[in-house]
Amino acid sequence: MSLMAVVIRVFSDFESFLSGSNLRIEIIVPEALKFLPGRCSANMGPVMPVRPFQPRDRDAVYDICVRTGASGEDARGHYLSDALLGDVYAGPYLELEPQLAFVLEEGGQVVGYVLGTANTAAFVEAWRVRWLPHVAGRYPPPVEPARTADERLIATLHHPEWMMAPELAPHPAHLHVDLLPQAQGAGHGRRLVEIFLAAAASAGAPSLHLGTGTRNTRALHFYERLGFQRLPVAGVEGTTYFWCPTERGAR
Ligand SMILES: CC(C)(COP(=O)(O)OP(=O)(O)OC[C@H]1O[C@@H](n2cnc3c(N)ncnc32)[C@H](O)[C@@H]1OP(=O)(O)O)[C@@H](O)C(=O)NCCC(=O)NCCS
Repeated sequence: MSLMAVVIRVFSDFESFLSGSNLRIEIIVPEALKFLPGRCSANMGPVMPVRPFQPRDRDAVYDICVRTGASGEDARGHYLSDALLGDVYAGPYLELEPQLAFVLEEGGQVVGYVLGTANTAAFVEAWRVRWLPHVAGRYPPPVEPARTADERLIATLHHPEWMMAPELAPHPAHLHVDLLPQAQGAGHGRRLVEIFLAAAASAGAPSLHLGTGTRNTRALHFYERLGFQRLPVAGVEGTTYFWCPTERGAR
């Protein structure tokens, strides 16, 4: 059985048992945690199960995406549609890489997620062929260079190749992780990242990169605390990049 099968099997076996429980994660899923890279956070709070994404979670993931989309703060009302951030930073992953999306639950509600790809180059191609036609009708390509925040985001949607800076190529996986405020600061972000690293390793990616808004100081500290290394990328402003080997996991 593959690593992911083991992890998912254990999560699946305990899913109904976990619901509403106050037990700690160390007690609930010791077999799964044994396989995950890195260690578990000492400040882990009450159990909040993590399980593979299901199509019914899509709206909740989109909602979390916009509620955390302004450098970690609420971005509702910032763009022409509250779905735009989700259509750029969540929808393509849920559509193209659903097996690499995981959600965090609290009392049956999705309060966080991690999603991404193990192969950014293949993902960029799939985005162009399978995702862009799906959303382009709602977001026609803006006249470039983009000037407004809406135009910049829509340009990002139309240019998935912008994800492929040469400096990022040695680290083919990438991820996005977001938690609602009530789920933050209790070790769940670390746990989601570790689960994704294990999944990406299992999918064949030796290394992962990610970018975060340079103004999102909380996220910068979070990734540094997890042992991610900064990765200079030429010609990019406002985004700080990190990388981490998937096998080593977060520290
Ligand atoms: C950033 C985010 C994912 C972090 O998840 P989290 O659950 O709040 O973080 P954790 O509790 O798992 O913290 C993990 C470690 O990082 C450290 N850390 C987290 N935030 C920190 C901060 N602001 N300063 C210093 N250390 C910090 C924690 O102390 C913890 O260290 P430990 O495990 O050694 O005790 C979460 O806060 C979030 O979703 N924020 C809003 C959306 C966002 O910014 N997403 C990232 C976009 S790139």
